[in-house]
Formats: sequence, structure tokens, C-alpha cells
Amino acid sequence: MSEAAELLIPDPVVADEVKLHRALGPVHLTLIGIGATIGAGIFVIAGTVSAQHAGPAVLLSFLIAATGCFFAALCYAELAAMIPQAGSAYTYTYATMGRTMAWFIGWNMVLEFGVSASTVAAGWSGYFLSLLNGFGISYPAAWANAPFAGTGISDLHWTGAVMNLPAFLIMLAITVILVIGISESARFNAVMVVVKVGIVAVVIMFGLPHVHMANLHPFIPPNTGVWGHFGPSGVLAASGTIFFAYVGFETVSVAAQETRNPERDVSISILAALAVCTVLYMLMSVVLIGIIDYHLLDVADPVSFALERNPDLTWLVFPVNIAAIAGLISVAFGSMYGQSRVFYGMARDGFLPPAFAKVHPRFRTPHLCTIIIGVVGAIIAAVFPLDLLADLVSIGTLMAFISVCVGILILRRSAPKIRRKFRTPWVWFVAPAGIATCGVMMFSLSNGTWVRLVVWTAIGFVIYFVYGIRHAAPSKWSVSDES
Ligand code: ALA
Repeated sequence: MSEAAELLIPDPVVADEVKLHRALGPVHLTLIGIGATIGAGIFVIAGTVSAQHAGPAVLLSFLIAATGCFFAALCYAELAAMIPQAGSAYTYTYATMGRTMAWFIGWNMVLEFGVSASTVAAGWSGYFLSLLNGFGISYPAAWANAPFAGTGISDLHWTGAVMNLPAFLIMLAITVILVIGISESARFNAVMVVVKVGIVAVVIMFGLPHVHMANLHPFIPPNTGVWGHFGPSGVLAASGTIFFAYVGFETVSVAAQETRNPERDVSISILAALAVCTVLYMLMSVVLIGIIDYHLLDVADPVSFALERNPDLTWLVFPVNIAAIAGLISVAFGSMYGQSRVFYGMARDGFLPPAFAKVHPRFRTPHLCTIIIGVVGAIIAAVFPLDLLADLVSIGTLMAFISVCVGILILRRSAPKIRRKFRTPWVWFVAPAGIATCGVMMFSLSNGTWVRLVVWTAIGFVIYFVYGIRHAAPSKWSVSDES
């Protein structure tokens, strides 16, 4: 028996097919991770959860969410280096827990990436219109809002609007760029990321000197008597919601098959993207809750709102709107990219019709899959209300993170000698800690979110039993220590 063996990946189906283009390096990857992460979470949700749940202690909520993500990121890094295939958590689950669990996780990743893209596109539309307004351009409200509103199925109602046209169009524009090519897509993403990170850094630099310590006291406002309304339970409830801000850094692992040196670069870039986002989030939150009384932050644009109320900082409102617009585009872009590559991986494994796995001969992107996802995502963004979707994104992603933490432990046991280019340190502490932290955040989400997750899962299993189970192999991977 050899000391270190490779993970065997039998893939005869694609041997003579057009392959994805290996064009990405570590900088592109890190930018994809940051691009897919910094968005509505910091520009909107940080303000609203501090007003509704945690007060200044939203900083602790960010820390809890970051800790769960950090444990999960360490596990992603090992699996991504071992199994450098498009598909991320879905693929790792297939390799470690078999076909049914792989479908379950893959289907939930539609929430992580597909629904997330639509949610963010709809949020983008709001910022875009307020920018148009700033230039004195008016736009009919009936064509800027979803025809349905409500936070749950029970209170879903008709708004009188026709559709959210800007959200629909931005999703189609992103689809076109994603189809044209991975290099073009990476360049477009890099520009968006530089704009948003640059502006966030400027806000931090100029905002920090205006932080009033009085706004940070009491750091944990006393609980009002209702669970999740300030106090320690408020900090916990806020962590489940603020987790949304971190969704996206793991998009890096989806790009393994388009990376020049995936065994090394994917692991490094996942951790780098998470580290950059965590630092920016912590500093930006200090500015946000330090320059204004947190009670006032329950608005659609908390960052601009806080800056507007500080005479020395009003000049930052316009750049922040630009950063939010660029930021949300790159999150929607990264999410759509992730979704197309997960479906590509699932189609190659037989869970979805083979058309989803077709790669365009010239563009070398999974064009059919990208177009189908883009059009469906555009319709969802145009028609459905955000509030209904946002927590679903978090719960689906937390599920994927937990499966990655479980998967790494299974492989450490079942195939201890496989060559691991990156080994998660203290794995028997890190992975269980990741499962526990992500589990706590899942349970802090509302009952309604859980009901929606169950309904979503049930729909997924109907599709699985009608199609997937007949076409996907029970185990695609041969995991062995024998060389
Ligand atoms: N993390 C992404 C955002 O905050 C989904 O918009």
C-alpha cells in the first residue's frame, strides 16, 4: 500500500468533449470570492439587524457568523484541493455520502447561488433607481417592483406593480457576460470588486474618526422580554440573518475546473476572500453603528442614511450608492456563475439532462445551462419579493457548509492516506465546531424559513425520484488509499 494515493475520478463521459477553460489564477479566484460576498449583507442587513435585534452588538453577530464560516472555509480548502471539480459542496457530498445526499445538497445549493442571485438583483434595482432619481430621472414604480409582496406564503399579496424590470434586465446582462467567456467574466468581476472594495475602504478611513463611543453604549442593549429582541438572544438571532453577508466566499471552490493550479490556488483563495471580507465587515460595522444611533438604522439604505446625517460625511453618499450598485452586480454575477457550475457538475453526473453539461465550442462555457438559469433567475427576480427569499439563501448555504464539515471527517476516516495538498489543521476540532456553529445559526432562523426549506426539499425529491435516481450512478467516485 502506498503512503499517498490520488483520489480516482472516473470521467469517461467527458473524455472527448469540449472542456471548461482553465484561465483563472489566485488573484482572479480571490476577487471572485470577494465579489460574490460583499453586497446586501453589509449595505443593508447590517443596519436593519442592529436596529431590530442586536444594537451595537451586531459586531458580535458578525463575529459568530465569521467563526462558523472560518471553520467551514478550512474544510472547503481541504476538499477543494482534493477534488478539484466544478460543483463544490455538491461534488464533495457525492464523493463522501453518495447519490441521495449529493442531490439533497445540490438542490439546496440552488438556494445558495440561484435564489441568492435573484434576491440580490432585486435589491440592486432599488439602488439603481435611487441613483437615477439623484440625476432627476423618474421611472414608473409599476415597472420597478415585484407584483407580489409579503414575508411568507400566508401573507403573499398583489402589489399592483407589473414587474421589476431593472432586476430582470440586469440578470439577462449578467447571463450574456457569463456565456461569452470565463476570462471576460473574471475581468468584468475584477472591475466591479475594485470599485466596491475601494469605496468601502474610503468610507472606513473617513468614517472611523467620526465614531462616537456614546453610540456604542450599551454594547449589548437589554433584552425586551421577547426572544431575539436585543440581549444575548438578539445577538444570536442577528447572527443567523447576518450570515447572509458571508454567503459567497465559497464560490471560489466552484471554479476549480477553470483554475490553472486548483490544488493550490482554490484553498488559498477561499481563505483569503473570507479574511478580506471579515476585516472589511467588522470595520464597516464599527463605522455604521458608531456614527449614528442604531435605532435609526431600520431603513432600506442604512449606510447612505447614516452618512447623510453626518455633515462631514455627506460627500460619501454618492460613492456609497455607486459601491452598492457595483457590489450587488458582482454578487449576483458570482452567484449566477456558481449556480451554472453546480448545475454543470450535476448534469455531468446524470442528475439533470445532458444539455446542462454542454460546453460551447468557442466560448468554452456551459452556455445552455447558463442561459436557462439566467432566464429563470431573471423571472424570479422580476416577480418575487425579496423578504420571502433572503433567509432561504442563508439556510440553504448553512446546510451546504455543514455537509462539507461532515464530508471532510468521513474522508479522513475512509481514506486517510489520499494525498491532501491542503490539510485542515485540528480537523477533529475544526469540523465539529463548524457543524455546531452553522447548526446554531440555522436554528436561529424563523419557523417560516424552516417550513419553506422543507417544501423546497420535497420538490427536489420529487424531481430526484422522477429523473435523477434513474440517470445518476449510486457512487461516481472511487475513493481509495490503494495506488
Ligand atoms: N453575501 C452576499 C450579500 O451580502 C449574498 O449580498
